Amino acid sequence: MGLSAAYHLSKRNARTLLLEQFTFFNQLGSSAGVSRQFRIPYPEEYMVKLVKQSVPFWDELQSLTPVPLRDKVGTLWFGDPAVHSTEGNIGEAEKALKAQNVPYATLTAAEIEQEYRFKNLPSTYTGLFQADGASIDLKAAAQTLYNWNLASPFVTMKDQSPVTHIAQRRNTFEVATPLGTFVSEKLVIVPGPYANSVFHLLGFHIEATYWNMASAFYKVDKPGIQYPTWFVFQNPVAENGNEFYGFPEVSWNYPGFVRVASDFVIQPIASPGQRSLIPNPRELAYTAEWVKNHMTGLDPSPRFTSVCLVALSKIPNKELLIDFPPPSVLNYKDIVIYATGWAGKFVPLLGKILSDLALDGRTPFDISHFATGGVYFRALREPDLLIH
Ligand code: BEZ
Repeated sequence: MGLSAAYHLSKRNARTLLLEQFTFFNQLGSSAGVSRQFRIPYPEEYMVKLVKQSVPFWDELQSLTPVPLRDKVGTLWFGDPAVHSTEGNIGEAEKALKAQNVPYATLTAAEIEQEYRFKNLPSTYTGLFQADGASIDLKAAAQTLYNWNLASPFVTMKDQSPVTHIAQRRNTFEVATPLGTFVSEKLVIVPGPYANSVFHLLGFHIEATYWNMASAFYKVDKPGIQYPTWFVFQNPVAENGNEFYGFPEVSWNYPGFVRVASDFVIQPIASPGQRSLIPNPRELAYTAEWVKNHMTGLDPSPRFTSVCLVALSKIPNKELLIDFPPPSVLNYKDIVIYATGWAGKFVPLLGKILSDLALDGRTPFDISHFATGGVYFRALREPDLLIH
């Protein structure tokens, strides 16, 4: 998000300093791994619209690199049509796709098994296939933005630069890091799951829960088998949240293997400080069991395991938060924040939106659904106070 915001700021000749607390291309930010799902199905029409609006920005980024950034394999959503999960519901997604004139095909359980190599699905399962879905080569996307920023006379990038203090002056901010203190007229704050550690420096925070999600690669033992990007909706069974998602085999990430992951955690954590880099073995086991029971052409023992941390907003129905801080923060209109949710598919567009907000105070894109609605908390000693 930072690389993308800097890219768009540099295009408007705005001198930009990009501070990364770890190193560029680290695996500790929001989500992890080098692929993300590009998918249009969402239960909310405004999200479908936002993905559509991101396409020209993906195309623009693509024009800067010969490396394909999106491998178009389609999105398959299937499962129990009655299930409502963090990703929504299949029927609601169909309505939203229809409303936005996005073509898709509906599928029966038998068709899903026949066309997409899943097996033993309950006959009540339904599905939809949307052909524009893709695997994003996130590493190549980040590298393309990084290369642009490196060459830009407007951008300076510094890594291993956690922000430790922000002093607010009348028209500027003084941002302290171990490398020194920098003065800026505007701030764009996008530290992924670590957002609150920076927001606290300005005296507020957002309420979030954190999922440290487990994921693994499975060896393809029938060469030539290819999956789309997919997501299965199922009811939880006790601690097993029972929702899974997967990627096709891609050339840039463990070729010969496909990634399958659980879209639930047995125990959310309260802050990124509690994260573990070891995947939860029970979450991995539930996923492996599902792979064994319902996928074909794979060795169902998990290999190359990893974790990815995501912050999820506690404000109902707001996956992404894009806003200014509360008015109690001095010069709050000179600060732009993005936090929470799964937004890899929006990186090129959100960089544009964040740069619009920083430079113009507004954007032509409809971000009303991502406003915090003033639900901020004052960063004090416990208990934190809701700022009205
Ligand atoms: C997403 O596309 O937003 C997503 C995909 C899989 C798991 C979680 C989120």
